Amino acid sequence: MKKLTIIAAAAAICSGCGNQPVADFGTVIPLPERIEQIADGQFVLKNGAVVSYDSGDSAMARNAAFLADFMKSDLGLKLRLEPEKRETAAVVLSVDTLISNPEGYEITVGQDGISISGGAPGGVFYGIQTLRKAVPAQTGRCSGVEFPLVKVSASPRFWYRGMHSDVVRHWFPVEYMKKYIDLMAFHGMNTLHWHLSDDQGWRIEIKRYPELTEKGSYRDGTMAGRDTSVFDNVPVSGYFTQNEIREVVEYAADRYITIIPEIDVPGHMMAALHCYPELGCTGGPYEVSKIWGVMPDILCAGNEDTFTLLEGVFDEVCCLFPSEYIHIGGDEAPRTRWEHCPKCQARIKAEGLVDDASSSAEAKLQSYFMTRVEEYLASKGRKIIGWDEILEGGVSQSATIMSWRGVAGGLEASRRGHDVIMTPCDYMYFDYYQSDDFDNEPMAMTGYVPLEKVYGFDPILPEMAAEEASHILGVQANLWAEYISTPEHAFYMALPRMAALSEVQWLYPDRKDWNSFTGRLSSFVKFYDRDGYNYARNHLD
Ligand code: ACM
Ligand code: ZN
Repeated sequence: MKKLTIIAAAAAICSGCGNQPVADFGTVIPLPERIEQIADGQFVLKNGAVVSYDSGDSAMARNAAFLADFMKSDLGLKLRLEPEKRETAAVVLSVDTLISNPEGYEITVGQDGISISGGAPGGVFYGIQTLRKAVPAQTGRCSGVEFPLVKVSASPRFWYRGMHSDVVRHWFPVEYMKKYIDLMAFHGMNTLHWHLSDDQGWRIEIKRYPELTEKGSYRDGTMAGRDTSVFDNVPVSGYFTQNEIREVVEYAADRYITIIPEIDVPGHMMAALHCYPELGCTGGPYEVSKIWGVMPDILCAGNEDTFTLLEGVFDEVCCLFPSEYIHIGGDEAPRTRWEHCPKCQARIKAEGLVDDASSSAEAKLQSYFMTRVEEYLASKGRKIIGWDEILEGGVSQSATIMSWRGVAGGLEASRRGHDVIMTPCDYMYFDYYQSDDFDNEPMAMTGYVPLEKVYGFDPILPEMAAEEASHILGVQANLWAEYISTPEHAFYMALPRMAALSEVQWLYPDRKDWNSFTGRLSSFVKFYDRDGYNYARNHLD
């Protein structure tokens, strides 16, 4: 009896040994731009195969380590890293300056091995991701993978390929951020927009103003469902220490992802006002919001101390985040308090701001506010991004506009010569429902963004002239967390819509095809299963 059990166990292991899956680049998401068969036959990547790379480049060494890690964890295949051993290598990683886009890649599979080159190390990384995604997810441990003899190449259509993460409405820990970043890298994305402050909490440690997290990161309840008069009395708290921020920034950078932090001003500031009520027009008191929506209380634009605080905050934000851009919000800032505040009115007078046909004096005061923050950040070598409201009172041409209330703001901004990132809520808000069966979905922000709508979005609008189109840096989806309080729910909302977004970000319109995408998606989601990510299944209906 005992003997029989041992034989059965050995058979199970051996069936794993004989397993040799066949890779297919035509199943990958985002689909490579070109896939050409160059000969009949195949190359088999086997256990123990050697990977070579340029040892003088730490990014290439990291790429090689990623390839080895992926092959080990995805397939149980052990690769040997031997820099500079091109002659004996089964996989050669290199930078090829003939590839004009630094994020572009080329994979050539020949009889003797695989070469993955990129315009820069980031391009090589995307080539590695494509290689791993060509191997079916349900493989399990294997002894080798058969690759067809092909040449595969791609360059992303857009330079800015973003996902947003709101860690304010609900807080998520470092481990979640890393899983989110892994997913972004898997989908070929390069920018994480990290929403770190809002009415409902302050989530980034600022050493000069410790109250921001000591008091501002805590709220003692949340509105129940959609009812703003009933509260659950469940405390929500949490923030990222500066060491944790550095850890997440570095983790992302290793995966070619830049993190752009957002400190949203002058509205969405109730958590900061709770700590510093003297910076509000009425003097408060203010509480960290327990409800969602647009709050009437915003930072006082007439008080110099407001700018002192913001400069102190941005000094530390700039030390923590090396990104070229800092997002300074600017959305949903009602100006009614400013209309009645003596300090704000004095500022309006001193700056000579007057109502005219296109903007009120208070709208121009917001422009003054944003420009002042922009100039401060410019003195530190940074550029700003703001939500499309900042166009209203006029804004300096150097500001990049994030178009969220539809695409009209993006079109207008591009006509005025601003760079634009498209995040229109009716296509790119992943906190909206993805199925119209609202009763059987977890509660979401009211709005309907099914997968097909995400897939069909083109950030370059038909009415844009070439000059306007040249200002569209790219496209991002936003994941606001009012109704999302767990990682499982966050991934459910993001997936598989991130897969559709990745093709909007990478593919030119002539390569996009909904039927091809959904065909590939049915096997692609098995990667989510394998890696333990929750995802919505209504695309299977
Ligand atoms: C936003 O959704 N308020 C930018
Ligand atoms: Zn004021």
